[in-house]
Amino acid sequence: MSLAAPNYAFAAPFQNPPASPIRSLMPYALQPGNISVAGGYPAQELFDVEGLNAAAEQVAGRLGSCLQYSNIDGQASLRHALAALTAERGLICDPDTELGVTGGSQQALALVSRVMLQPGDHVIIESPAFPNSVQALRYTGATVHTVPSGPDGVDIDALDEMAARIRPKMVCVVASFSNPCGATISRERRLRLLELAVKYQFLIVEDDPYGELRFAGESVPPIAALAEGEARQWAVYLSTMSKTMAPSLRIGWLVAPPEVRRRCVGAKAADDMASSAWIQEIVAQYLADGRYTKHVPRIRAAYGARCDAMARSLRESLSDRIVFSQPEGGMFFWARLNGDIDATRLLPYAIEHGVVYVPGKVFYADPEQADLHAMRMSFATMNEAQIAEGMARLGRALQACEANAPVSITLP
Ligand SMILES: Cc1ncc(COP(=O)(O)O)c(C=O)c1O
Repeated sequence: MSLAAPNYAFAAPFQNPPASPIRSLMPYALQPGNISVAGGYPAQELFDVEGLNAAAEQVAGRLGSCLQYSNIDGQASLRHALAALTAERGLICDPDTELGVTGGSQQALALVSRVMLQPGDHVIIESPAFPNSVQALRYTGATVHTVPSGPDGVDIDALDEMAARIRPKMVCVVASFSNPCGATISRERRLRLLELAVKYQFLIVEDDPYGELRFAGESVPPIAALAEGEARQWAVYLSTMSKTMAPSLRIGWLVAPPEVRRRCVGAKAADDMASSAWIQEIVAQYLADGRYTKHVPRIRAAYGARCDAMARSLRESLSDRIVFSQPEGGMFFWARLNGDIDATRLLPYAIEHGVVYVPGKVFYADPEQADLHAMRMSFATMNEAQIAEGMARLGRALQACEANAPVSITLP
């Protein structure tokens, strides 16, 4: 006999856990024969298995020293290698006082949020945004506000107006090839963000999982790299190996002013005591061997070709029915159906025709603001032929939907 669950007195942010609409699409995405542009995963066939194996073999020779509890802020070898990598992106930092290794950039955001925010505080995130980022902010109990974001990134004037009104302690953006919009904030607008950070004394937190995946156009330095004088004290930078090496490594890092970084390390001690020293040493070895420098251009080229294929196939198969701007990097297209049909209504038809995408509305923290016609499509995991076939299927699904044809798929 099963017992009814007691009335647990859950903490406020956990009382009504949100469903994960993206995860609920996974069974369809994984169904053999289906083409999925739904996930935010990097391409599995592009992982450098050989290179990682070679790095792991070298570390195996000194395995004993990697199995102990280790520095909470990360292995010195990796901190120094990540500081060098971050410097190549234009951001110079001290690996001992400003940089800390984290369990992906997701943990980095959770740590910064936890040390800065509590109930009664205000934080702003761009909208649409990655739902797990919004959750990391919400779990602090702070009030989460959203500012609209579009093809050029966050609306700076709207942010200025909102910051003057609510005095946030933190503002979070993905400045390069955002998830879901694929948008990049220009250098000028990054400078304006820094001005606002100083003016209103908030931390500007840039989450940068995708910046290194640029396959077209000119790179723009991280926001913190553009900060001069006091502004640098308000700029935090987060990044990760998830999209360039492999997400299961769970290796990311934060670069923050020493006082912020010190508290994040304390919060990590309470979280997981440290990221695995073994995995950190493998990543450090991989970087030291120069394998990363060779690997990233390979994935950039592959993603660039896939991105072109998606743009081409969308034009061919959906021509004037869909509007999008082609990203210069990252993994995502943010496209908009321009007829009467919205992205949720189309989805069961798309799945029935064997293609899966994510309706844009799931990326809005405030459902009232959601653009119901938007959809996120990733070009990362499918090859060019699959992308062409997927977009052709989407075109046929749209025709079936417009014709009001019966559809067998029922989504929650
Ligand atoms: C904007 C953004 N931040 C963070 C993450 C999580 O990255 P990590 O695997 O480094 O925790 C993702 C992954 O999709 C993402 O899109």
